[in-house]
Amino acid sequence: QGTMEVSQDGILEVAGHNLVDIAEEYGTPLYILDEKEIRDNCRAYREAFEKWYPNSETLYASKAFLSVAMARIIDQEGLGLDVVSGGELHVALEADFPVEKIYFHGNNKTPDEIEMALDAGIKSFVVDNQYELELLNQLAGKHGVVQDILLRVTPGIEAHTHSYIQTGQTDSKFGVGVQNGLALETIKQVKELKNVKLVGLHCHIGSQIFKLKSFAKAIEVMMDFVEEVKEETGLVMEELNLGGGIGIPYTEDEEKPSIDQYAEIVTKTIKETCESLDMPLPKIINEPGRSIVGTAGSTIYRVGSVKQIPNIRKYVAVDGGMPDNIRPALYDAEYEACVVNKADQELEETVTITGKCCESGDILIKDIKLPHIEPGDILLTSCTGAYGYAMSSNYNGVTRPGVLLLSENNIDWIVKPESKQDLISNDVLPERLK
Ligand code: LLP
Repeated sequence: QGTMEVSQDGILEVAGHNLVDIAEEYGTPLYILDEKEIRDNCRAYREAFEKWYPNSETLYASKAFLSVAMARIIDQEGLGLDVVSGGELHVALEADFPVEKIYFHGNNKTPDEIEMALDAGIKSFVVDNQYELELLNQLAGKHGVVQDILLRVTPGIEAHTHSYIQTGQTDSKFGVGVQNGLALETIKQVKELKNVKLVGLHCHIGSQIFKLKSFAKAIEVMMDFVEEVKEETGLVMEELNLGGGIGIPYTEDEEKPSIDQYAEIVTKTIKETCESLDMPLPKIINEPGRSIVGTAGSTIYRVGSVKQIPNIRKYVAVDGGMPDNIRPALYDAEYEACVVNKADQELEETVTITGKCCESGDILIKDIKLPHIEPGDILLTSCTGAYGYAMSSNYNGVTRPGVLLLSENNIDWIVKPESKQDLISNDVLPERLK
């Protein structure tokens, strides 16, 4: 994965840096990000889409992981940004991210968030529902602007992924349905509004999808709908946003299509569908998160308690767990791990890696084969760059690990580790309790 290698003395390295030394110097648990891998993934998307379909734009879905430095890297690589809250927008603005490349998502943007984005002058809102449409129209009027929008629709497709991250079906909290007529009704409503301009449509069928056919199916439904919109309302949808990117292989037995294959099938399907419907080609936008930053990130832990339950299982506890990676508990997500200081040793025992929280569900990896593992060893879980730090918490009073950016010549904090004092930085002790 990325620039990961095993040194001659059997130690895992990222971007040429010895991870035992990194653990000693920067402490554990620790998120590390391989800068080259992030940049390579950004370029792979940009180049693949430019090659197959020049009228396209790739946005990075901030929800996977955002910090001021990450926003700078995304900008340097020429991608736009998808934000889903005033908080993510704030980080983007602090990073001086170009506002004309920011798209605002979300199924319940508050009036404050909408006004913040209107003030900033972002490119576009992805409007989720009729209530939001009216609200945005009213607030855009107050700001004296006509705001470009995309409408989020659900194409009625159930993708093969965990039900918590499926989003394209009609029964969804996101978007308005193509199949039940709500999407068309909403578009007719937009025609009556003066302060919003409908530029195109958005759909997202879910996250961690490997089956390229699901994306192709969604495109066919969307293009049929684009045609229906034109016939029914006379409006031409100039942009089609296809939502998140492809899935990533968290474990060795998963095989993922390449970014280039994904771009090829998406663009081919659009071209063929437009040709058969005799329609102009729309601009296409995609907004990958996981496949930009997921494989670029790993988490390093130190092993503490090791406990053999006779004839049942060996539990190996690390100094982090569900507060820094909720995905196994939330989605039964699977991960690979490696003992950093024994990277060249034989996999000789099956163990279960647990976190340090007071929860039986705080298990990072069940039954994984590793070299003989002992307290003090350094363990790395791979592919934690997306939705790891972003979904972290302070559960059990655990401080969030920092994020260290590694490149060939540099080691930089891009998010500092939290301190125990940070845990009480918003606490207030009322006078009467002193
Ligand atoms: N665009 C929209 C509208 C989305 O809802 C999402 C993800 C993305 C883009 C980015 O999708 P990606 O390329 O990362 O697959 N916390 C979950 C994932 C939830 C994703 C929600 N939306 C996880 O850890 O798997």
